[in-house]
Amino acid sequence: MSTTITTAAQVGALTRFAEHLDLHHRIEGWFSVESAAAWDAMLSWQRRNGVSGNLLEIGVWKGKSAALLALHSDPSSEVLLLVDKQFDQPTVERALGEVYGDGPSSYQMLETDSRVLLRDTMMVDAFESFRWIHIDGEHSARAVMNDLEVANGLLADDGVVCVDDYFNFLYPQVTEAVNRYVRENPDDFALFLCGYNKAYLTRPHRVHRYLEFCKTELCTEFEARGVEATLAKTTLPAEMNTFGMGPRFNDQPMRGPDWDQDTVRI
Ligand SMILES: C[S@@+](CC[C@H](N)C(=O)[O-])C[C@H]1O[C@@H](n2cnc3c(N)ncnc32)[C@H](O)[C@@H]1O
Repeated sequence: MSTTITTAAQVGALTRFAEHLDLHHRIEGWFSVESAAAWDAMLSWQRRNGVSGNLLEIGVWKGKSAALLALHSDPSSEVLLLVDKQFDQPTVERALGEVYGDGPSSYQMLETDSRVLLRDTMMVDAFESFRWIHIDGEHSARAVMNDLEVANGLLADDGVVCVDDYFNFLYPQVTEAVNRYVRENPDDFALFLCGYNKAYLTRPHRVHRYLEFCKTELCTEFEARGVEATLAKTTLPAEMNTFGMGPRFNDQPMRGPDWDQDTVRI
């Protein structure tokens, strides 16, 4: 069963996203409209459901995905921390400036190799204070394992870690590293969604909330943002409790297992 978009907060979020797409298309980078729509839906859901906290991106480039995080950050209480080993500072600041306008902003740019983060005092000072972490830096398995370790220390109880280039044929080591990290740390992370080149993790004791969101709201949220997607849950939860998402398949917005395609269990 999918929900409908009815509240003023939901309608407001859709309008803001539609307006943001103009900026999105003007920033160079590797952040698809489909992923932007998925993020916008999830970040809006977090806001509506009282999930607050800082936002972190490792790997910023020209600020394309960072601009969407800026749109969702509350400068009065949340820091947007941007980490890159080499910033194109004027370009990133211009992009973020378009989001914040004359209003307050609370972003910080940290120019460093993400490998040193584990030894930064931030790991203690900002322990479990981030509601959204995007890992999009170096794409070696070693770097992804490091960045997931950073995320493990910083992720809030009910936050989301998103890892770029999961299932991208150019970077098989990213998929291997994410699966290995989740398998070796089953008490810390659960993979609840993947697709459009990204993996989404949350804390295992919160995963039921995000699975429920995927089952009941994400299809509607995609369509409201102009994205024709299929959400797939093609095996039983005991085997793997993860949704896949991708371009609309067989006219099905939601697809269960091959043997029972109308049933989605979480
Ligand atoms: C694919 S780009 C990021 C794309 C960006 N998120 C977007 O929306 O277009 C990767 C970025 O990661 C940065 N990077 C690569 N290795 C890194 C490392 N070890 N630590 C921090 N940043 C790194 C690069 O400088 C580059 O800006």
